[in-house]
Amino acid sequence: MTTNQTIINVTDLVKKYDRLTALDHFNLTVKKGEILGLLGPNGSGKSTSINCILSLLTYDQGEIQLFGENMAPDKTELKRKIGIVPQEVAVFEELTVYENIDYFCGLYISDKTKRKACVAEAIRIVQLEDFKQFYPKKLSGGLKRRLNIACGIAHEPELIFFDEPTVAVDPQSRNNILESIQELNRKGATIVYTSHYMEEIEQICTEIVIMDKGAVLATGNKDELKRMIQTSEKLQIDLPLCPPDLLENIKEWSGVLHVQYDGTTLRLDTLKEEKVLLKLLHHLESIDLLFGDFYSLQPTLNDVFLEITGKQLRD
Ligand SMILES: Nc1ncnc2c1ncn2[C@@H]1O[C@H](COP(=O)(O)OP(=O)(O)OP(=O)(O)O)[C@@H](O)[C@H]1O
Ligand SMILES: [Mg+2]
Repeated sequence: MTTNQTIINVTDLVKKYDRLTALDHFNLTVKKGEILGLLGPNGSGKSTSINCILSLLTYDQGEIQLFGENMAPDKTELKRKIGIVPQEVAVFEELTVYENIDYFCGLYISDKTKRKACVAEAIRIVQLEDFKQFYPKKLSGGLKRRLNIACGIAHEPELIFFDEPTVAVDPQSRNNILESIQELNRKGATIVYTSHYMEEIEQICTEIVIMDKGAVLATGNKDELKRMIQTSEKLQIDLPLCPPDLLENIKEWSGVLHVQYDGTTLRLDTLKEEKVLLKLLHHLESIDLLFGDFYSLQPTLNDVFLEITGKQLRD
């Protein structure tokens, strides 16, 4: 459950790699209990922001507070409360699945009985029970990612960062990963989740930050973000034939923002209150034009991104 307690507060963060500004006055607030999604295209600064927040990278300007304290590389007590699942899988090839998780957990929990219980719980959450004695090289990409997650969460952190944990994994592992994150959140963890997959962000995140070029473009839950843009309805209609003058005609209708025809499907971005679909169906009937199925779709986060930046979120 979300509360008002602020867990992360980042103000005016600037990070440069030589002449490239990777974070350009980046701001972020995360409240206890949230699953906050950091959504942005490749190179927008997601990993850099996480690594600065965790003091894994130095930065040029700005302030970072975690649990109300200024974060610094030597804040061991703070780090104990934090779990990190990095974008690149980081496990020891010479240790088994069990030994890897036990090792990472052991960095924070020295009591053997407690640690054993924590490792077992991490294995249960990512469903690696059948692979405990496997070495990482014997695991598929998806299972390796799940091991990476178990290593990051075994010490039962209150705040967990997941940096693109589902890239290049099979659908089964992807579902397991998303469910694991939601389970950890239900058990009380606050989550920061980065991705450039808007569907995943929509599916699990309670709060979303859209970023591009190192800065925040918009913040809100998915409904709030969709209300920020003009397009409120996307119409799609199967149309085997579409005379060019029809397209030109529709473009002039009130409430129509964008029209596109690909030879089989007519797509319209519209303002909802204008009831364009009804008008379109009447019009097609009146000019005796054959049409097939039609759909009215909600805008996606990609539409939000497109409208704010003029470019697609996807590569
Ligand atoms: N070590 C580095 N040295 C120089 N430039 C870097 C370094 N790390 C990242 N960058 C650059 O900083 C910008 C932000 O990169 P970052 O990895 O934070 O983006 P990202 O949003 O995590 O991207 P991705 O989705 O690909 O993981 C990019 O332009 C990237 O090329
Ligand atoms: Mg990244």
